Amino acid sequence: MKAIEIIKPGEIAIVERPIPECKENEVLIKVKAAGICGSDAHIYHGKNAFATYPRVVGHEFAGEIVKVGSQVKNLQVGDGVAVDPVSSCGHCYACRIGRHNVCKSLSVIGVHRDGGYREYVAVDAGSAHKLPKNISWEIAAMIEPYTIAAQVMDRGRLTADDTVLICGAGPIGLILLQAVKMTGARVAIMDIIDTRLNMAKEMAADLVINSKTSDMITEMMAFTNNEGASLILEATGNINVLETCIQKIAAPAGRVVVLGFSTELVKIPQVAIMSKELEIIGTRLNNNKFPQVIEWFAKGLVQPEKILTHTFKFEEVEKAFDFMDKNPADVCKIGLTF
Ligand SMILES: NC(=O)c1ccc[n+]([C@@H]2O[C@H](COP(=O)([O-])OP(=O)(O)OC[C@H]3O[C@@H](n4cnc5c(N)ncnc54)[C@H](O)[C@@H]3O)[C@@H](O)[C@H]2O)c1
Ligand SMILES: [Zn+2]
Ligand SMILES: [Zn+2]
Repeated sequence: MKAIEIIKPGEIAIVERPIPECKENEVLIKVKAAGICGSDAHIYHGKNAFATYPRVVGHEFAGEIVKVGSQVKNLQVGDGVAVDPVSSCGHCYACRIGRHNVCKSLSVIGVHRDGGYREYVAVDAGSAHKLPKNISWEIAAMIEPYTIAAQVMDRGRLTADDTVLICGAGPIGLILLQAVKMTGARVAIMDIIDTRLNMAKEMAADLVINSKTSDMITEMMAFTNNEGASLILEATGNINVLETCIQKIAAPAGRVVVLGFSTELVKIPQVAIMSKELEIIGTRLNNNKFPQVIEWFAKGLVQPEKILTHTFKFEEVEKAFDFMDKNPADVCKIGLTF
């Protein structure tokens, strides 16, 4: 079979690999489509602190089961599935309290072990989630990024009464927007790229802010009657944005959910957190959110087709990465077909 391998930072190749064996508790999947995530690009460019090389990347993917292990009960050959990339040890502190996505020995497909950018993948049957009948492979590959939003909603304890600010209108920011809109909360979104903000407008954002051309703090104070945002979702990954949000935009008793994983130091006076009793909340991947998101997709509660802007054949992966780097204003999510 063919596999897309990042040999070392900056070097990508399509290589020949044996089809993986399917153990008794596993299913063998013929991959049909995969999404390109910013973190795949970061691994390609050598900018992901968690990755090791050589690596077959890809943690957003879907395909058809072609073999089931002897112990697998709930899945059959021919089933379409999306794969939860998170695996955990089951006995560390985080696992014991039901937070396996931050397991001490966390292993993510496509980051710590080989991922979905190959023709066949064997995964634990518990990680394969059966798809509804009515969705295409490219759309099914987008279930994983929506699980990020489900996790953020959970971590941020989003309610309809919140006034939300989403920082960043990249694929994740726009997916967060769709998820927040589902609850009916009022939501503003900021970025520096107008085409992305226009997409946000089309997805019914209540306010869009281009922070290059207008003052985010003034706009947010007007939007919130000077109260500040009760819930901020930081999805630019930029530490200056995070500093501004914590110090100037969060409402007293507000929550700030941090998605980015920059290793740069954030400078915030303690008193900014203490005086308003702010909650600064981390979020990572997803904690068993696939069933919930598959229901969103099946019921048409979210619009993944608005996020998926381009599709390439997997043989064109290098071109796809390059296109993504050079066209941030036009590209939101790129899908690869197999
Ligand atoms: N915690 C998790 O589990 C998780 C999962 C997926 C992605 N992420 C992170 O979420 C963030 C968003 O992901 P994405 O794929 O949408 O990334 P992206 O890079 O495509 O989008 C980021 C957006 O933020 C905007 N931006 C950057 N700096 C800005 C600034 N100073 N002011 C205003 N706008 C700015 C960019 O124009 C872009 O539209 C990234 O930091 C990513 O690493 C976290
Ligand atoms: Zn991702
Ligand atoms: Zn664990």
